Parts: sequence; structure tokens; C-alpha cells
Amino acid sequence: MSQFKRILVTGGAGFIGSHTVDLLLRQGYTVRVMDSLTPPVHIAGQLPAYFPSAAEFMQGDVRDKAAWERALVGIDAVFHLAAYQDYLPDFSKFFHVNAFATALMYEVIVEQRLPVQKAVVASSQAAYGEGKYLCAQDGVQFPAPRPEAQLQLRHWEPLCPACGGSLQLLDTDEVRVNPHNSYALSKYGGEQIALVLGRRYGIASVGMRYSIVQGTRQSFRNAYSGVLRIFAMQVLSGQQPTAYEDGEQIRDFVNVDDVARANLLALEDARADYCAFNVGGGRRVTVNQFARVMAAAAGRPDLEPHSTGEYRFGDTRHISSDVGALRALGWQPLGDIERSVGAYLEWAQQQADFGDFASKARTYMQQVGAVRGGAQA
Ligand SMILES: NC(=O)c1ccc[n+]([C@@H]2O[C@H](COP(=O)([O-])OP(=O)(O)OC[C@H]3O[C@@H](n4cnc5c(N)ncnc54)[C@H](O)[C@@H]3O)[C@@H](O)[C@H]2O)c1
Repeated sequence: MSQFKRILVTGGAGFIGSHTVDLLLRQGYTVRVMDSLTPPVHIAGQLPAYFPSAAEFMQGDVRDKAAWERALVGIDAVFHLAAYQDYLPDFSKFFHVNAFATALMYEVIVEQRLPVQKAVVASSQAAYGEGKYLCAQDGVQFPAPRPEAQLQLRHWEPLCPACGGSLQLLDTDEVRVNPHNSYALSKYGGEQIALVLGRRYGIASVGMRYSIVQGTRQSFRNAYSGVLRIFAMQVLSGQQPTAYEDGEQIRDFVNVDDVARANLLALEDARADYCAFNVGGGRRVTVNQFARVMAAAAGRPDLEPHSTGEYRFGDTRHISSDVGALRALGWQPLGDIERSVGAYLEWAQQQADFGDFASKARTYMQQVGAVRGGAQA
């Protein structure tokens, strides 16, 4: 427990937010949540069943100054986790929800001279774009997104920007970012607003660059929930898991309990102030390996992953974060993908509306051009 007692969590009715709220309550904090209960993550305006009665709830939108003015009263520290995440080309909305709203929070704190002392802000691994590589000839490289023409030919690996040769993946540290879509830019923008305004006005601020987070309560109604939801739906209905590209993409999935613990550490440890941290799983896993873990957990190890050559427009080929900076503060990832998958499968099957949202999401993403290629490519 730190010197902060009363905590506001924006987006606290969502996936990471709700696990963070639970941990804060277990640690004895007083918790208020502000969340707009936005569809499709939520059934409009309906508080999810897992929301704890011990937390205070305020329905409000982080783009609304009056909502911040109400929510920040009597608060010592904030977890700002509410965000817009989607694949629609409504570019400005990402900046409105993810960056403008963050600036609004600092504006209200400073204007009203509120005694908020700390803010932990959700950023994203997406800030690194295509990540960091080593070229045997040209050294460390930060490649641009792979050209569409290359993907249509199903040549999936990024190439050295200098010589066009092959590359070896390195773990990305926090030093250099390379965002290449509106979501990534807006999350990095929100993080930098927090760190710069925080330092300027003496509000200790921390940016948390989560890798892909997994565990229970990850909404299966949105388009952006990835392999966990898609593969679970497929194997539970007896279908082979379908991977984008060739399924050999590398990720460092992180368990949501580890993320909640990282959030708590960022709140309580003053050494974290004014820094941005990677929060990853510390283990490289391919999408195909992940699919096999899912199939085995569902009792269907015979369901081998397969690929149709479809790809997500603008997707990163491989990404893996170096979590050394957070480890140096005493945190380490404890949950592996087996644990995330097991917990999710058990939870998902208890949800009355765990229908075939995965194929609906895929169709939707094809319609908006977010998923391309495949048999016709
Ligand atoms: N889940 C991941 O893998 C992941 C990875 C990197 C970063 N992040 C970041 O972590 C944070 C939490 O993500 P999550 O996966 O828990 O998302 P989520 O969609 O489960 O939860 C987000 C919550 O924010 C609320 N919200 C959305 N727009 C709002 C608004 N305008 N005003 C108030 N509330 C609003 C939603 O109703 C929802 O309850 C986000 O900032 C996200 O960008 C998540």
C-alpha cells in the first residue's frame, strides 16, 4: 500500500481495468471507476456481472470535461486505461479518445488545482510498429511496415531497409518508437502527453506499454480481440484454428494478472515516475504454437492450425518486448500462455452469449479492408 488511498480507474469496467480494480480492492485501496460502457465491448450502458460492488461506478466519457471534473473529486491517483481500439478508418477518433482525453485529464487537475499526485497511463507495444531487428551486414534496423505488394506475394518476413537482406528479430527496449497506425500514434501521443505534462506540473506519471494481454473478461464482441477469442471459438466448435499469414508470427503475450501487478507496481514505486515501461510476457511464442496450446487445452490436440494466406492490413510481422526495465523494479511475468488459455476457455464457456463472434469479426474486418489476401490473392 502506498501513500495514495483513493484511486480512479478509467476504463475500469473493461478487461485490464477490471483486473486492476480487483487487485486494488484486494490491496485495500478505495476505488472509483469511470467508464462509458461503450458497445461493442459492453452491451450499451450495462455494467458487466464481474464488476465488484466494493468499487464506486460513474458512467462517463473521458472526452467530456465535466465527467473528469466529477470523477477526479477526492482522488489521489489515476489509472487511465479507457481507450478506443478498432480497425475502422475513423482516424480522428483514436486521437480524440486516446490523446485529447488524456490532455483533458491533466487540464482539469491543473485548472482545478486538484491534489491528484500520480497517473499511470495505458500505452501500447503498438508504439514500436514493426519492431527492432539485426541485419548481419547493416546492424540494428527499425523497418517500415511491409509493402502491400510483398504481402500479396505472401513474402511475410520484413527485409533490411538498407540492403534488402534477411533480418534477425531483437527484443524492443523502451528507447525508440516507430508507430505506424492511428491507434499506435494516439497511444504513444497519450503517453507522451502524460509524461510531459506530468513532469511539468509535478504529477508523477508513468506510461505502460503492454504487449498483447490475455486472460478472462477479454471482450469477445469487438473486432480487435485477437487469437485468444478466435482460436477458442474455433477449437470449441471443432474447427482448425485459422492463423493470418503463415502463423509463424512471433508475439510475447502477457497474462492479465501480470499486467495488473505491473500497474500496481507503477503506482506504488516512485522509481517508476516519469518513465515508460514495456509490460510483456518475457517469452516468444508463434501464433501457431499458441494455436496448439489452445487446441490441447480444449481437448482437441488433433486440430492443427492452418493458414489461408489472409493477412491483416498494417499488422506487425513479429514483435517482442524487452521487459528488463520493469524486472529491475522487481516485477516479473508469472503467467504463461497455458495459464491464460486455460482461464479464458473456462470463463468463455460460462458466458451465455459466447456465440460465433469470431467469424463475425473476421467478416467485418474483411468488409472494412482490415483483412486482405487469402484464396483470391
Ligand atoms: N488488451 C490489450 O492487449 C492491450 C494491449 C496494449 C494496450 N492496451 C491498452 O490497455 C487499455 C485497456 O485495454 P482493454 O483491453 O482492457 O480494453 P477494453 O476495451 O476491454 O476496456 C476499455 C474500457 O474503456 C471503456 N471506454 C472506451 N471508450 C471510453 C470513453 N470514451 N470514455 C470512458 N470509457 C471508455 C470501455 O467501455 C471499456 O470498458 C487501453 O488503453 C488499451 O489501449 C491493451
